[in-house]
Amino acid sequence: MPKFRIEGGNSLCGVIDIQGAKNSILPIMAATLVADGECVIENCPDISDTHTALEILKTLGAQVKHRGNTVWVDCRNVLDYEIPDSLMRKMRSSVIFLGALLSRHGKAVISFPGGCELGPRPIDLHLSAFEKMGVAIREEFGSLFCNGQTLQGCEIPLAFPSVGATENIMLAAVRARGTTVITNAAREPEIEDLQNFLNEMGASVSGAGSSTVVICGVDSLTGCHHRVIPDRIVTATYLCAVAATRGNALLRNTCPRHNTALLSALRQAGCEIEERGDYLRISCDFLKSARRIRTMPYPGFPTDAQAPFMGLMCVAKGSTVFVETIFENRYKHISELQRMGANITPEGRVAVVEGVKRLKGAPVQATDLRGGAALMIAALAAEGVTEISDIYHIDRGYERPEDVLTQLGAKIQRI
Ligand code: EPZ
Repeated sequence: MPKFRIEGGNSLCGVIDIQGAKNSILPIMAATLVADGECVIENCPDISDTHTALEILKTLGAQVKHRGNTVWVDCRNVLDYEIPDSLMRKMRSSVIFLGALLSRHGKAVISFPGGCELGPRPIDLHLSAFEKMGVAIREEFGSLFCNGQTLQGCEIPLAFPSVGATENIMLAAVRARGTTVITNAAREPEIEDLQNFLNEMGASVSGAGSSTVVICGVDSLTGCHHRVIPDRIVTATYLCAVAATRGNALLRNTCPRHNTALLSALRQAGCEIEERGDYLRISCDFLKSARRIRTMPYPGFPTDAQAPFMGLMCVAKGSTVFVETIFENRYKHISELQRMGANITPEGRVAVVEGVKRLKGAPVQATDLRGGAALMIAALAAEGVTEISDIYHIDRGYERPEDVLTQLGAKIQRI
C-alpha cells in the first residue's frame, strides 16, 4: 500500500494554486441527474471522491467525460435509480444522490452510506424531510427503498443545520410540486455553490448562505456550465502547513471570505496574513497557541479544519483547548500525533494540546481524511522522517498533495 515519506524541518515557501471544493463538486455531480442536458463543470478537483461520484453516475447510465479539471456529464439517458452497495460504501456523501434520484425518477434504492468513521453518521434528517415531501421509505437488508411519484413542496424545519440534509432537500425540491422552505438550513459556501449551479440550470432557488432556503419547483431543467468554488478546507490545510514550518507562501485561487474563522485563529496564533482578491499570503515567525478552538456550523470554525489546526497547535507555544461540537468521534488522529511526541489530552469532545518544541518523525497511520492532513502537517514540522500509511484517506480530498507540498520546498515522496 502506498505511503507518504516526509522529511521534516524545511520552511515552506513559494506559490501554490488551490483546487476546487470537494464538498461542492459532490452535490453538484448529484445535481446533474435532474438536468435534461449536458453539464460542463470546471475547476473539478482530481480526487478519489470525484472519481467515485463519476462512477456512480456512469453506473446509473450517464455519459461522463473528464479531462484534467473539467468534467462533462449528460444524464439524459439515465434510467436506473439504484446505487450499488459497493459504491455507496466508498463515501458518505453518496447519500446526496438520493434527493436527485427522487427528483428524476420519483424513486431510489440506496444502502446506508459509508465514509469517514467520525462517530455515528445518521441520515434521519434527510429521510424525515423526504417523508414530509410524500416519499414512502422502507428499510430492508441494509437498503432503503424510496418511493414518491410526485414530490410535494412543504416547510422543512431542520433540527440541526445539516449540510448534507440541506443539499439533499434542495435536490429533491427543485422539480417538486409547489414551494419548499428549509428553515435552520446549513449556511456553508458549498450550499450557495449548489444553489448557483441549480439556478444556472433554470431552477428557482434562493436564500442559500442564510438559514432559510426557498425552492420553487419547476417542470424541467437544462444543462449548464459552472466553475466550482475553491476548497476552503484544503486552503486551511496548506495555511497550517506553512505556519507549522515557519514559512512564507502565497495561495492563489482561494476565497478568503470563506475562511474568516480560520484566518482569525491563525492571526491569534501569531501568523501574518494578507488577503487580496482570490489570494492569501501567510508568514509566521513565532507561533503561539490560539487558546480555544470550538468547532461550529458555518460561519464558525469548521469541524473539517479541527484536525489540521490541531497538527499546527502541537508545535505552538502554550496550550490550546479544542471543543469538537459537530461530530462525536473526530479525535482519532490524536493517538497518531502522540506517537510523534505531541502532548495532547483528549476527554470526550474536548482535547487540550500543550505545544512542544519539536515533534519527532515516526511511522503513523491516517485514520480519516482530515486526520491524515493533520499528520502531514505534523510531519512537515517534525525532526527526522515520518512515514504515513493508509494515505487513501488523504487522496479522497487532496489533489496530489505531494506535488503541492514539493512546490513549497517540502521533502515528501509517495512511496
Ligand atoms: C458535510 O458532511 C461534509 N461532507 C463534511 O466534510 C463536514 O464535516 C460536515 O458537512 C459538517 O460541515 C460533505 O459535504 C461531502 P452534516 P455531512 O450532515 O453532510 C448530524 C470532510 O472532511 N446529522 O452537517 O455528513 C451528524 O451526525 C467531510 O470533507 C444527524 O444527526 O455533515 C453530525 O454530527 C467530513 N442526522 C452533524 O449532524 C442527519 O440526518 C453534522 O452533519 C444528518 C446529520
